[in-house]
Amino acid sequence: MKATARAHTNIALIKYWGKRDEELILPTNNSLSLTLDGFYTTTTVEFRNDLTNDIFYLDNQCISGIPYQRVTQFLDLIRQLAGKHIFAEVRSTNHVPTAAGFASSASGFAALAAAGSKAIGLSLNDKALSRLTRRGSGSACRSIYGGFAEWQKGEKKDGSDSFAVPIKPQDYWDIRVAAVVLHADEKKVSSRVGMKRTVDTSPFFKGWVDSIPQDLEQIKAGISERDFEKVGSVAEANCLKMHATTLGANPPFTYWYDTTFTVMQHVQKLRDKKIPAYFTIDAGPNVKVLYLPENEADIKRELESIPGVRDVILSKAGQGITYL
Ligand code: ADP
Ligand code: DP6
Ligand code: CO
Repeated sequence: MKATARAHTNIALIKYWGKRDEELILPTNNSLSLTLDGFYTTTTVEFRNDLTNDIFYLDNQCISGIPYQRVTQFLDLIRQLAGKHIFAEVRSTNHVPTAAGFASSASGFAALAAAGSKAIGLSLNDKALSRLTRRGSGSACRSIYGGFAEWQKGEKKDGSDSFAVPIKPQDYWDIRVAAVVLHADEKKVSSRVGMKRTVDTSPFFKGWVDSIPQDLEQIKAGISERDFEKVGSVAEANCLKMHATTLGANPPFTYWYDTTFTVMQHVQKLRDKKIPAYFTIDAGPNVKVLYLPENEADIKRELESIPGVRDVILSKAGQGITYL
């Protein structure tokens, strides 16, 4: 009853920001992402009769508190699905900074769902696996697939129609992402807490939700035409709208640092120099820059030259879940 799986993180081009049901993790809007090959999690789950509770090691450290509870509650769902009452030892390694806005919850819960469901003897198809994964962390349900994926919010109250579907495979289009590392420390406001505060208090939240259908339609058209400018500009604008909602919350907050803003402006200046590049930012200060392979050397040099930039990690489109 042991299995190991690897999942890659994904970067949302149309963001998931807001839940309509917190228990079931049902979103208020569809979201669309690109899975990244540069950042991933490898997780081994072993269900054992001798255990009297679950144990969770992350990067060789025994974990307690909220991160432990999130794992053990997720294992409860797997046990429920399988109809088995047995505890597990989970060992996970993040090849991505944890809780810093690099989507560790996405690769983390996708790897846990895949390894856990296999270890307990379930054989779930992609749709069922994505639906299960969603319960660990919403963004994780998109990491089941490589390339571009869309999380369909669904309409049903029980969440049975809320899961991600593949849009285009990993090898469809060589579009790249530079992760600009400014700070890899854990964020003060988790994605979960930040989006709840926004839904509950930000007057801008309605505008955000209303703007999604058009953004989705345009980005999907851009992807099917392989139109980099269209995809990049829609993604950048969507990111700015999401972050604007946090400024309207009570109490207001932002994930940005001064250096975040510096990088954003630099990316916009690159376009003036005819280097096509667009940014997007998840719930954290670090910036991801979309670019095309022919501009890789310029992009890396330019981004590394910005004061405050600690590292620039280049990534291609990544693959979906793999079992090791
Ligand atoms: P991020 O930007 O990294 O996704 P979040 O606030 O969304 O930040 O989620 C971070 C949380 O995700 C961690 O505090 C932990 O609870 C969970 N997490 C991260 N990595 C893993 C992992 N490998 N296995 C299980 N849970 C993980
Ligand atoms: C800004 O999936 O981390 O990265 O569902 O509460 O675990 P929970 O939140 P999470 O939120 C991700 C928010 C985002 C946008 C995105 O990835 O779509
Ligand atoms: Co997350």
